[in-house]
Amino acid sequence: MTTDRSLRELAAERGLTVGAMIGPDSLRTESDHRRVLATEFDAVTPGSPLKMGPLRPSPDTYDFGDADTIVDFALANDMSVRGHTLVWHQQQPEWFETWNHSDERVREFLRDHIYTVAGRYRKKIDTWDVVNEAVADDDSLRETMWYDAMGEDYIANAFRWADEVTHADLYYNDYGGEAVNEKSDAIYDLLADLLERDVPIDGVGLQLHALFDRPDPESIAENIERFQDLGLDVEITEMDVDFYEHDAPDDPLELQADYYREITEVCLETGCDGMTVAGVNDATSWLRYYENFPELFIGDPLLFDDWYEPKPAYEAVVETLDSY
Ligand code: GLA
Repeated sequence: MTTDRSLRELAAERGLTVGAMIGPDSLRTESDHRRVLATEFDAVTPGSPLKMGPLRPSPDTYDFGDADTIVDFALANDMSVRGHTLVWHQQQPEWFETWNHSDERVREFLRDHIYTVAGRYRKKIDTWDVVNEAVADDDSLRETMWYDAMGEDYIANAFRWADEVTHADLYYNDYGGEAVNEKSDAIYDLLADLLERDVPIDGVGLQLHALFDRPDPESIAENIERFQDLGLDVEITEMDVDFYEHDAPDDPLELQADYYREITEVCLETGCDGMTVAGVNDATSWLRYYENFPELFIGDPLLFDDWYEPKPAYEAVVETLDSY
């Protein structure tokens, strides 16, 4: 290692936020998790606790316990919080399935949800992923219950409602549109149209789950710059890098480090606003437990290994920041 300064210290000197998406359990039970998180990162994204399903056990109740655990830890350690996420089509309340609702009731429900949640954390959360994954894989708008009730206006409504109760930066967040491609074209058109109509949107989050492929860094830079030209901030919001188990390369940790290095360079060169990884250490990666990916990937996609030891990927990010 060329430096003994932490990732967090080096990134701060470069004006870059470095975050980790986390859950409440490791934070509560593992002192190493708390130590590495607070030493190496200056932002957290609660992975599930702010999603509608976990937050809304019944139509009239909220459960803020897990979210508060993460938010309170972050603030006590001088970290910022990325709120994730106010509107999504997954991890929704189970009672939605039997909810007898009209379009108007759905609209009111979403408005009240956003007022309550973004309003409650007004002084604590300074960035929100307001809408997550509204663009489908065929590049059309995804037909969710929000779309069914309000048409495409649900997106503008969500941003406007959030803007009424918080001064946080308001983001659109998605996967698959990191490089210049048909999906990012669709996201670009969507956001350009929202801005044209004075919808209060401040940024775009590129998730960057580099699992099925590793999008070309030069193309990611070009994509970031076109969103910046619209006046938007851009952050990498859920980065992880892994390989198919059945087709694993001989040197996955080195290839992974190379890609983390390239993306760090892209972030520094484009002046992107932040880089968040999808967990602190490999043992907490969603790839280990996500039911759609049984044993599909190696499952080691992050900067620290199961035992919180820094991996070559960590060293690559730190060296890139240090030498920039
Ligand atoms: C998306 C969401 C994340 C996480 C992953 C895995 O990327 O934005 O919060 O849930 O899917 O399911």
